[in-house]
Amino acid sequence: MKLDVEGILSRMTLEEKAALCSGADFWKTKAIERLGVPAVMVTDGPHGLRKQEGESDHLGLNQSVRAVCYPSGAGLASSFDTALIRKLGETLGETAAGEKVHTLLGPAVNIKRSPLCGRNFEYLSEDPWLAGEMAAAYVQGVQSRGVGTSVKHFAANNQESERMSVSAEVSERALREIYLTAFEKTVRQAQPWTLMCAYNRINGTYCCENPWLLDQLLRREWGFDGIVMTDWGAMNDRCRALAAGLELEMPASGGENDKKIVEQVKSGALDEAVLDEAVRRLLCWIAKGIDPREPAQSYDRQAQHEFAREAAGRTAVLLKNEGVLPLKKGAKLAFIGGFAEHPRYQGGGSSHINSVRVTNALESCASLAEIEYAEGFAADADESDSEKLRAAVEAAQRAECAVIFAGLPDSYESEGYDRTRLDLPACQNELIAAVAAVQPNTVVVLHNGSPVTMPWLDKVAAVLEMYLGGEAVGEAEADLLFGAVNPSGRLAETFPLRLEDTPAFLNFPGSGKKVTYGEGIYVGYRWYDARKMAVLFPFGYGLSYTTFAYTGIELDRNRLAMGENQLTVRVRVKNTGTRSGRETVQLYVRPEDHHDRPVQELKGFAKVALEPGEEKEVVFHLDRRSFSVYDERIHDWYLPAGRYEICAGPHSRALPLCAAVEAESAPRPLVVDETTTLGEILDSGRRCAGIDAVAKTFGIGGEEPSGEQLGAGTNQMMQEMMRGMPLRRLVTFGGMCWEQIEQIEKELQPKED
Ligand code: BGC
Repeated sequence: MKLDVEGILSRMTLEEKAALCSGADFWKTKAIERLGVPAVMVTDGPHGLRKQEGESDHLGLNQSVRAVCYPSGAGLASSFDTALIRKLGETLGETAAGEKVHTLLGPAVNIKRSPLCGRNFEYLSEDPWLAGEMAAAYVQGVQSRGVGTSVKHFAANNQESERMSVSAEVSERALREIYLTAFEKTVRQAQPWTLMCAYNRINGTYCCENPWLLDQLLRREWGFDGIVMTDWGAMNDRCRALAAGLELEMPASGGENDKKIVEQVKSGALDEAVLDEAVRRLLCWIAKGIDPREPAQSYDRQAQHEFAREAAGRTAVLLKNEGVLPLKKGAKLAFIGGFAEHPRYQGGGSSHINSVRVTNALESCASLAEIEYAEGFAADADESDSEKLRAAVEAAQRAECAVIFAGLPDSYESEGYDRTRLDLPACQNELIAAVAAVQPNTVVVLHNGSPVTMPWLDKVAAVLEMYLGGEAVGEAEADLLFGAVNPSGRLAETFPLRLEDTPAFLNFPGSGKKVTYGEGIYVGYRWYDARKMAVLFPFGYGLSYTTFAYTGIELDRNRLAMGENQLTVRVRVKNTGTRSGRETVQLYVRPEDHHDRPVQELKGFAKVALEPGEEKEVVFHLDRRSFSVYDERIHDWYLPAGRYEICAGPHSRALPLCAAVEAESAPRPLVVDETTTLGEILDSGRRCAGIDAVAKTFGIGGEEPSGEQLGAGTNQMMQEMMRGMPLRRLVTFGGMCWEQIEQIEKELQPKED
């Protein structure tokens, strides 16, 4: 079916146009039958399909059709594997197409500002570059099957507390470098069909009615050509939102907001051309998903379940292993903890999947070893039970090895509310310590969507982080624990030692409808590195059953000249162990001068499969943006010239290979206003007769100081004082008149091209 967008638009009434700008119900847009415009369906997302048929409750949360549940975002990002994520996208796209879903509501790319955010299990990373790469792969995968995506939640939706009203008070630089980058990368690399606008406000303005965000940045700067829809119920002022660039309000507003649009167009308060443009985009979006695919494609749930198992195996992170893993087949084992029977494999809220077949470790490992099970604690509560604890300890004593299946209960983290602490339930910590005290071969397998503290870490022999591993988690645990699969996940977020160490500790979740992003750009490892803090596990960390050596790094140049936009980096890595495995080669850029910028930032990664003894070369390309900061003074990206180290290794705190490059850059563009100092003018290289005279008088900018001007100060002191002097202060301190100052300012203004 083809839609003649312009033809339809020209025949639509004002009321029809307004009506198309909001949903018909929870999940569908409105059809305009007389013009052949069909209703299309959108569905959550992100790690499976949550398609509700028939009536949905007012929160849209009642039972959905059965679908395979894959690992959630926290785990997916830990794979550091864009090929895997792309394949997941393709699989989800096929399922959505088969279910006649037009657009899938995901991926969710908000940055993990605090480990307390209740929805972190669904989000990808604390690092924007990693989140962006993963999200772009996901979008490419889904859209390759003729199904749209909705990258969410745009933007700065980094907490659940007061998510519908809070204002994220955040600097332009932190927005650009941290909170918007993943969206920007996804838009530029994958052109998602839609973006979902967040509930919250940014610096006082609702995201849904923010022209800077939706128009200037998203469309003009990044070149987005899709539509923006609201998060469910995020609409504040419909006409302001339309004018700002928001096309679709979801879900239905009972016609209330459609009426407003009509009224305002009629009164002249809203230009009909704005509405027409929104409707044109909506029709183009609808057309994208109906033209290419009819009839519905079929998909195979069994094959998808197998893929969910593979994905869970590739996302788990081995955090500690003192020789106890992999377990020996046929060994006498104690399996302890309610999560062995009832694994927590997904999170609560809009991403909740009505899974096809959930597997647990107890059943999945039954044929591999002689297993005695002791519940120890329930999976869904924090209740100590001394009888259960005693039975667990006794079982552990009888076994060669104890495997404790622990994690966060649903009530500890979810969409809709934030966590209040980092700890596992006390009953679990107590049990792990008691078991580890009698059984040196204790393994802890974790099911949680975000970091937890591990007070027992040095007492146990191994820790395997499964995150929320999806419905095949039990089989994946069997694969990993017994070595059929070699763990290869790496942490996409830092595990802190304590809550008080975390970057947003003093500013989360805010108060008085505001949350101040006081840590600025220092989010995640950028914070811990700058403060040289010890952490529980650093960003990028994860072990394997084999070992890898980094054997060489080479840059194709040691100088990045002004016109050059690409530095090629070659890194060699070798499997030095006896098993095949996958290494995640990570590449960080470290500016020698890291005043007011992170010590290092991830700018490349690659997943490499290596047989024992095999060595491979990985090639990275770094562009100028990889070295740049967002400069609020010029409202643009700027590369500070200087020496940069390019470092490669297995995680952010182990980078054995480094090579240096000298980056050249144009002087920072000069901004001339009432705060412009002499130092800024001189550093910019811009000169004029007035500035030459000032420089000479005060002995700055390469001029010799003249004796009389020194007064009581040292040369250095005087020079620094003068460099920091705003030009306009020379009326007081330089004996200049306003005409002279104005003349200088005029001459220094940027020349029009
Ligand atoms: C969530 C979105 C979701 C939507 C529809 C909202 O509450 O924030 O992520 O896509 O509901 O279920």
